[in-house]
Amino acid sequence: MSFGDERRRPPRPAAHELERYSALFATRTGRMRSSVMRDLMAVTDRLDIISLAGGLPDTSLFEPRLFTAAMERIADGATAAALQYGPTDGLQPVKECIVQIMAEEDTRVAADELIVTTGGQQAIDLVCKTLLDPGDVVIAEGPTYPGAVPTFCAYEAQVVQIEMDADGMQIDLLERTLDQLAAEGRRPKFIYTIPTFQNPAGVSMSLARRRRLVEVARERELLVLEDNPYGLLRYEGDALPTLRSLEVPRGSRDGGEFVIYVGTMSKILSAGIRIGWVVAPRPVLAKLNLGKVSSDLCSSSLTQHFVAAYFANGDWREYVNAARETYHVRRDAMLDALAEFMPAQARWTHPHGGLFVWLTLPDYIDTTDLLARALREHVAFVPGEGAYDDGRGHNAMRLNFSSVPEEQIREGIRRIAKIVDEQLALYGSLTGRHGAAPADDAANELTEELAPVLELPRRSGEGARRSRPA
Ligand SMILES: Cc1ncc(COP(=O)(O)O)c(C=O)c1O
Repeated sequence: MSFGDERRRPPRPAAHELERYSALFATRTGRMRSSVMRDLMAVTDRLDIISLAGGLPDTSLFEPRLFTAAMERIADGATAAALQYGPTDGLQPVKECIVQIMAEEDTRVAADELIVTTGGQQAIDLVCKTLLDPGDVVIAEGPTYPGAVPTFCAYEAQVVQIEMDADGMQIDLLERTLDQLAAEGRRPKFIYTIPTFQNPAGVSMSLARRRRLVEVARERELLVLEDNPYGLLRYEGDALPTLRSLEVPRGSRDGGEFVIYVGTMSKILSAGIRIGWVVAPRPVLAKLNLGKVSSDLCSSSLTQHFVAAYFANGDWREYVNAARETYHVRRDAMLDALAEFMPAQARWTHPHGGLFVWLTLPDYIDTTDLLARALREHVAFVPGEGAYDDGRGHNAMRLNFSSVPEEQIREGIRRIAKIVDEQLALYGSLTGRHGAAPADDAANELTEELAPVLELPRRSGEGARRSRPA
């Protein structure tokens, strides 16, 4: 069955059309920006493109019979309720499913400490809506989730990004930044982090840093927004505790005070059902709930019923295990292809889970320009700039390995590597410098044992162009 051409997008307004309305727009619209990933979807939906750009789970792994069984269960006993409005904070059976999912990562939460949201994305939006005034500081990792940057911008936040290394956000740098901000009389509203299999860098925050971050939050009475869509998609290594579980250990009767936790069904069940959740200290949760009333009244009753029916029908972990096995093989295919095709000047991360590899090229390569070339070769990636709010990331790219099969991953990487080679050769012939390496050539020597991730891109004087307007 076809639902028509999903690629059709509303046409962009012409300048003279925009002009007519410009006096009406709220000031904040001046800071609104699109998400690179969303923009790219219009192109990457095309069947002739190998897209390593999305962050899409492979929903073809979900067996149609499970879908039918869940829908039949709804039809048998809950048709009217599934077609009705529901409570703003979500249906109780769905909350109970969420409690189970979080327990899988040893994270204790009570059903009344969370609200069901329309994806994790809405949870991030609600947190911003609840906490941010224009000009407020948000701390994030550098690079950060490209889909969060437009949200922070829409609420006119100032985003301060803390560099990462193989062990995630550098907490000593964070503390120094907090001191500097305090000296200016500024206090961030929250610290946004994706500690496990970070999007886009693919790295995880070490246990020591997790512990320290929770301490820092407590000592300085700061909120941490822990975003954890990928924690259950681990392909190697031992599980690391969530920040929430470090703040509220098992057996504790207290709720959390400083960690707001965001989760989602998108990567472990379905992105299309748009069901996520947020756990927060009670006073914050009450405000988030008010924010949700004005956003959408409630998340879809139909898809919440789908979740409840799916969990009631069988073991939800089976699908997660199947997805994990497939993504593991695809991750290996991507790492193998990168090793085979990429020139020595390229460096990339070695994720232990999640969906992404972050690749860094020499400073003189611009991946936004490179993408235009790549699309002509029918392959796509996310240029690194979208993962920063300060113009950095121009020489990096995010590569996704979950949504296409191994042979396409290999072919996609081969094509990207060929374009990179051409750009390096062009640079060499223009400057006489052949085989010029990134500033930190030593990083190319890194082995798997030394580090699963290489130094993340740093903006240096000359390369620091295209800064975004504040
Ligand atoms: C880090 C992160 N947070 C939030 C989201 C939003 O996910 P959703 O709204 O589908 O739950 C994503 C999606 O890729 C993500 O990678």
